[in-house]
Amino acid sequence: MNEESGANEMNVRVDPIVSVNLNGDKMKILVACEYSGRVRDAFIAAGHDALSCDLLPTDQPGPHYQGDIYDVIGDGWDLMIAHPPCTYLTCSAEWAYGDGPYHQKVKPGTLVGAERREAREQAIDFVMRLYNSGIPRVAIENPVGVLSSRWRDPDQFIQPYEYGDDASKKTCLWLRGLPKLQPTGLHPPRLAPSGKGYALRWGNQTDSGQNKESPGEDRWKVRSTTWQGWADAMASQWGAALAAA
Ligand SMILES: C[S@@+](CC[C@H](N)C(=O)[O-])C[C@H]1O[C@@H](n2cnc3c(N)ncnc32)[C@H](O)[C@@H]1O
Repeated sequence: MNEESGANEMNVRVDPIVSVNLNGDKMKILVACEYSGRVRDAFIAAGHDALSCDLLPTDQPGPHYQGDIYDVIGDGWDLMIAHPPCTYLTCSAEWAYGDGPYHQKVKPGTLVGAERREAREQAIDFVMRLYNSGIPRVAIENPVGVLSSRWRDPDQFIQPYEYGDDASKKTCLWLRGLPKLQPTGLHPPRLAPSGKGYALRWGNQTDSGQNKESPGEDRWKVRSTTWQGWADAMASQWGAALAAA
């Protein structure tokens, strides 16, 4: 097998297996903190009832509650997948949690010191309340950050490139009542020059390994949107697990 044919074979996304509930009952799926509709629509395509909920409107027409997740969290769901905000949960800008003096320029609107520490506590509390909401099956998705030290280790790490997307972003899943996601198809990296050799990079990375910044006001949204391969894998694999339960 030469390099080229190997790459072609790897760059295959396995089609989601549509999970059929043999009883004909639809599962009720709540997708918390989702404006994109990606996970919601993947579950609907797999034959389930799904609602996305976010303070923002949905980007794609579909069943969506615009408002606080706690308005709908008690409505009898079989499964909740939650994408809580990570602004104060990642390990970036750790300097801003101190009381100063700050050697960086503090941008307007950036919380620092006690206010930022309080925002982190609230963000952790938000995640804990989601996880302990009483829904029997829960997945919490978040980047690598302080939840591992303040709560517990994630059940698994996933990468977009393991599910067919041309991107690298190591992300944690904390699971209750759900099997680990199984990779569905590797998107091969490119070889980028690095020092005297080469490094593996994906489409969202520069050759030096930095994240490519998408320009414009919607940059955070583009970077926060759930990867399609993850959404499809969640719907096919967790939908099937629910139907078999
Ligand atoms: C990191 S983004 C997740 C985006 C998601 N991956 C997607 O594809 O749409 C976090 C989202 O949580 C939402 N959010 C924050 N607090 C919320 C609350 N109390 N109820 C519902 N949504 C909330 C924010 O509006 C934001 O859109």
